[in-house]
Amino acid sequence: MEQTISISRQNESKLTDTRTLPFGKIPTDHMFIARYADGQWNDPKIVPFHELTLSPMALCLHYGQTVFEGLKAYVMADGKINIFRIDKHQERFNRSLARMCMPAVPKNLFVEAIHFLVQTDSDWVPRDDDGSLYIRPFMIATENRIGVKISDEYLFMVLCSPTYAYYDHPLKVKIETDFVRASEGGTGEAKCGGNYGASFFPAQKAKEEGFDQILWTDCKNHEFIEESGTMNAMFFVDNVLVTPPLGGSILSGVTRDSILTLARENGMKVEERAISYKELQRAFEEGKTVEAFGAGTAAVVAPIESISIAGTVYNCYLGEDAVMFKIKKQLYDIRKGLLPDNHKWNYIF
Ligand code: COI
Repeated sequence: MEQTISISRQNESKLTDTRTLPFGKIPTDHMFIARYADGQWNDPKIVPFHELTLSPMALCLHYGQTVFEGLKAYVMADGKINIFRIDKHQERFNRSLARMCMPAVPKNLFVEAIHFLVQTDSDWVPRDDDGSLYIRPFMIATENRIGVKISDEYLFMVLCSPTYAYYDHPLKVKIETDFVRASEGGTGEAKCGGNYGASFFPAQKAKEEGFDQILWTDCKNHEFIEESGTMNAMFFVDNVLVTPPLGGSILSGVTRDSILTLARENGMKVEERAISYKELQRAFEEGKTVEAFGAGTAAVVAPIESISIAGTVYNCYLGEDAVMFKIKKQLYDIRKGLLPDNHKWNYIF
C-alpha cells in the first residue's frame, strides 16, 4: 500500500508482556491521529502514543458525540499479519458516524491508518495462539462550545492494545427485564459511547447479584432477546442456530456475520428471528440441549454457562463437541491462513 500519512517513531519501545493484564490496559508505542476541520480531514499522522490536550469545552465531553470500532490483527501461521474483516468494520464505522451526525472517514484513510499503525507496532501483535492485537479506531467531537450543537471539528484516532481472552470463564447471565439497552429508532445499532455508558448501571446490578453479564430484552415487551453486554447473542437448540435479527436496536456484529456465514456454509440451519426468553425457558424445561454464546470481536465466541430466567437458573451445554467451539476453531483457522479465505475476510501484509 502506498503511504500518504507521516510516521514519527518512538525512540524506545515500551513493549512488555501483557498476557496477565486486563483487556485493553496497555497501548502500543504509537497511535494514529487526524483532525477534521473546515469540512475535510487534515494532517493524518502516526505518532508516539501520548495524552491529548482537549478544551473542557470540547463537545464530546458534554453531548456524547463519540463513535468507536473494534477489530483485530493476528499473526498468521506463515508469520504475516492479518487484519480481519477491515472492510466490514470500516462500513460499520461510517454507519455509526452517520447516525451521530459525524463526518465519514474515507475507506483509504481508515485502511491506511490501521495498516501503517499495525505495521509500525508489528512487534506488539502477540505470537501466541490465543493472542491478537486489538485495534480501536474512534472519533470524538472537538469543537469548543457549550451550546448543544453538532460539532464542526473532530479527531479520528486509532489505538492498539495486545489482547488475550476477553472472558476467562464461561458466563453466568441473567435475562434483564427491568432495564433496556436500546429502543426502536434509538442508537442501538450505532457503536456510540453512550450505549455503553448507559449499560453500566444494569450490568453492575447484575454483577452484584452474581452474574457476569446481562441478556438484554426488547424495550416494548421485555421478552425478546436482543444482545448480551458487549456481544451479539446466539443459541443452538434443536439443531438450529438462532440469533435475534438486526432490526435497528442491536449491533450489526462482524463476528455475528462471520459465524452465520460459516454456519450456513457448513449446512447448518440458521434462523435470524425474534427469540423470546419464554421459548428458551420451554426448551430448558422440556430437557432440550441448549447452547448459548456471545459473539463479538473482543470476546470472539464467549460460552454461556447458565441463564437465569425470572429467578430460575438453567444450565447450558458446554461439551467439547458444542457447535460454538467448532465454528470458533473454523474462524481461527481462516484468520491464521490454515483454511481457505473464501470470502476475502483477511487483509494480509
Ligand atoms: C468489541 O467487541 O470489539 C467491542 O467493541 C466490545 C467492547 C470491547 C466494547
